[in-house]
Amino acid sequence: MKSELIDNENSYHSKEVSSEILLETKNLTKWFPIKSGILKRTTGYVKAVDDISFSVRKGETFSLVGESGSGKSTLGRAVLRLHEPTSGEVHFEGKDITHLPSHEMRKLRREMQIIYQDPFGSLDPRMNIGDIVGEPLDVHRIARGKQRNERIDELLELVGLDPSRKSRYPHEFSGGQRQRVGIARAIALNPKFILADEAVSALDVSVQAQVVNLLKELQQKLGLTYLFIAHGLNIVRHISDRVGVMYLGQMVEIGEVDEVYKRPAHPYTSALISTKPSPNPRARKKKVILEGEIPSPSNPPTGCRFHTRCPLATEICKQDTPILRPVSDKQSVACHFPLV
Ligand SMILES: Nc1ncnc2c1ncn2[C@@H]1O[C@H](COP(=O)(O)OP(=O)(O)O)[C@@H](O)[C@H]1O
Ligand code: SF4
Ligand SMILES: [Mg+2]
Repeated sequence: MKSELIDNENSYHSKEVSSEILLETKNLTKWFPIKSGILKRTTGYVKAVDDISFSVRKGETFSLVGESGSGKSTLGRAVLRLHEPTSGEVHFEGKDITHLPSHEMRKLRREMQIIYQDPFGSLDPRMNIGDIVGEPLDVHRIARGKQRNERIDELLELVGLDPSRKSRYPHEFSGGQRQRVGIARAIALNPKFILADEAVSALDVSVQAQVVNLLKELQQKLGLTYLFIAHGLNIVRHISDRVGVMYLGQMVEIGEVDEVYKRPAHPYTSALISTKPSPNPRARKKKVILEGEIPSPSNPPTGCRFHTRCPLATEICKQDTPILRPVSDKQSVACHFPLV
C-alpha cells in the first residue's frame, strides 16, 4: 500500500494549485470560557485558538498537524463558523464571513463541508446509505424523485461504492466503506471547500491509503480545496501541498510540505518529525523525543509557548513572543532561533 501512495506522490505534487486564495483567517481567536462556582462566573479561558492568520489556496490541500489539544479541530470549526470566533476574521472567496447572519451562513454551508473522524458516529444508524447520502439534497431542496435517485447513484459511484447497495444500513459496511459514505455525503452539494478532521485517523493503515487516494482523485475531478487535519504525520506528507504546525493554539510554522519535512525550521516541528516511528530500530534510537507534557491552554507559558519544552530556549524566549516570519519563499516560522 505504501508504494501506491508513493507512486501517486509525484502526480499529486505536479497538480495545479492556483495562486488565488479561497479561505483566509486574520488574527482568528477562539477562547472557551471556563465557568465555576454556583453563579457560573467566568474564571478564565481555554485559549484553544489564539491569533492565527493563514490562508488556503484554491485547489490546494493544507494540512494542520500538532499534538492532541493544540487547537486543530477548534481552528477548523471556527473557519466553518461551527464555533463563533472570539475575535479576528474569516474570509471565504474574498468575502468577510465572520459576521454573516445565520440564514446566509446556511447557504454558504453548501460550499463548505466537513468529513468527520468517526464515520459510524456521524452516520445515522437508522437511515440507509442512500438516504444518508441524499439527505443534503433533501435539506437544500436540490433534487427529488428520479433525479434524487440518479444523483445518489452517481455520488456512490464517485466514491467507489456499488449503488445497488444503497438500501443497506451503515452497520453492514466496513470502516473504510462508511468513510466513503461520509465523503459522498460531503460532496453531494458540490462544495468548494472540505474540512477533513482526522478523516482517516481511525482507519487501518492500508485503508487509510485507499481513502487518501480517493480524496486526491476527487480533488482533481471536482476541483476541491481541502483543510486536512491529521494525527499521523506520515499521511500528511502524501496528501498535502502545504502544512501548518500548531502548538498550544498558535501556528508555529507554515510551509510547503516537502520543505518543512526536509528542513523543519521550528524546534517543535523538528521534534514532531523525529517522533514519527521509524521502521529501523537503530534509527529510532537516535531520534529526538519530545519531552514533557503539553502545558494547559488556559495558562500558556509566556513569550514563546514552546519554551518550557524547547532544548534551544534562552531568556529572550521566555519574554518575547516570536511572530511568524518567512525564512524563505516556501516557509515561515515563529521562533527567535530558527533551525534554517
Ligand atoms: N467546546 C469546547 N469547550 C471547551 N474547551 C474546548 C472545547 N473544544 C475544545 N476545547 C479545548 O480546546 C483545546 C484545543 O482542542 P482541540 O481544538 O480539540 O485540539 P486538537 O483538535 O488539536 O486535538 C483543548 O484544550 C480542548 O480541551
Ligand atoms: S523561540 Fe526559543 S523557545 Fe521558542 S522554539 Fe524558538 S528557540 Fe525554542
Ligand atoms: Mg481534533
